[in-house]
Amino acid sequence: MTGQSKSPADADIERFRDVLGRFCSGIVVVTALDKGRPIGFTCQSFASLSLDPRLIMLSPGRTSTTWPSIRNIGSFCVNVLAEDQADVSARFGRPGKDKFEGVRWVQSPGGAPLILGSLAWIDCQLWAEHDGGDHTIALGQVTNFDAATSGSPVVFFRGSYAALTLSTF
Ligand SMILES: Cc1cc2nc3c(=O)[nH]c(=O)nc-3n(C[C@H](O)[C@H](O)[C@H](O)COP(=O)(O)O)c2cc1C
Repeated sequence: MTGQSKSPADADIERFRDVLGRFCSGIVVVTALDKGRPIGFTCQSFASLSLDPRLIMLSPGRTSTTWPSIRNIGSFCVNVLAEDQADVSARFGRPGKDKFEGVRWVQSPGGAPLILGSLAWIDCQLWAEHDGGDHTIALGQVTNFDAATSGSPVVFFRGSYAALTLSTF
């Protein structure tokens, strides 16, 4: 094998990523206040889970440096990003200490940063966490939630941001 070529395992992971990328989704930023300091990370793997009790789920990567802090705090806010917040997704989607620089936020009822301009927000208490391979599966019990009266989500598809086009069938 030359230094340039990919191993079959690497090629398989790339193909797997590419296939999974066909599943489009919205984007959330999961936030918390760590001793008064706002922290957060971008998350595509978010889903609703249960109405009674009210539960949501998300999958933080094992390498996330922010998730262990949020786990210790035990509560967090899920910020559902709006169409014009792709830059917010990119900013919170890479490691760094200055993610909140220039980002306007207020404290949610649960005490976590609520990023202004978000389409919706959901305050949660960490309910359970399960093994998910190189990610974990975190379940949040919903304590508060609200949404903007109008607006559209940012959509993530095949590694790119897109806007939603609504059509009637
Ligand atoms: C569009 C997008 C979706 C992402 N989805 C996830 C995800 O579902 N789970 C996750 O752990 N990281 C996800 N990430 C990567 C994390 O946001 C990133 O690894 C994290 O911010 C690293 O910073 P941290 O070390 O402060 O946690 C995503 C990033 C982007 C840009």
